[in-house]
Amino acid sequence: MFNIILFGPPGSGKGTQSEKLIAAYGLIHLSTGDLLRSEIAKQTSLGIEAKIIMDKGQLVPDAVVVGMISSALDANPQAGGFLFDGFPRTVAQSEALDTLLSLKNTEIGVVLALDVSEEELVKRLLNRGLTSGRSDDNTESVVRARITEYHAKTSVVARYYGQFNKVVHVKGEGSVAEIFTLLCSEIDKRLS
Ligand code: AP5
Ligand code: MG
Repeated sequence: MFNIILFGPPGSGKGTQSEKLIAAYGLIHLSTGDLLRSEIAKQTSLGIEAKIIMDKGQLVPDAVVVGMISSALDANPQAGGFLFDGFPRTVAQSEALDTLLSLKNTEIGVVLALDVSEEELVKRLLNRGLTSGRSDDNTESVVRARITEYHAKTSVVARYYGQFNKVVHVKGEGSVAEIFTLLCSEIDKRLS
């Protein structure tokens, strides 16, 4: 089993590259953002609570997302590997993920970190907000709040996995195809 964390700030291309990577490597895509938006669409109590926080650009509580990931891991016992997108986002989530994976006798193989400048992130997200219907892409203040939250709570996740030599930085600017090639070459190095 080979598990990957696709890491990076909001708008760095995690979702875009995840779609291509799961197809190429037969991985199960676990995006906590997508799982939360599906709860919002179904108007569950979890979704209603989470939307209030997401609309401010803040992180939902660790216990909520760790619970969702734990259920998703249990629901896919035959998986050849998982691609985590937008999770873990705090050191507490990272530690919880490592524990959940070790209970299944597996671990994170690599953390691929997409590097994109802040101006480019804001440009991409506001542009997507014109058509996506995502309420957290609509206003520049919320987009910037998400980036601030990333610097305050999430960037330390790279340092956490760095202590185990698992982090590789990849240039996240350029064409989608170019970035995909760079990501594949890092994965292939570790699979061979
Ligand atoms: P989440 O859904 O994870 O959103 P995010 O991290 O803000 O990131 P995005 O999905 O906006 O960006 P992305 O990196 O996936 O980029 P994408 O490929 O879409 O989280 C949303 C919220 O949920 C959080 O704010 C939080 O409240 C909550 N949440 C989620 N997970 C959580 C967790 N673990 N803990 C606590 N709270 C959590 O690309 C962005 C745009 O750029 C697209 O329009 C795309 O077409 C375009 N694009 C992509 N690649 C390129 C390229 N190479 N060149 C030009 N444009 C590109
Ligand atoms: Mg995404």
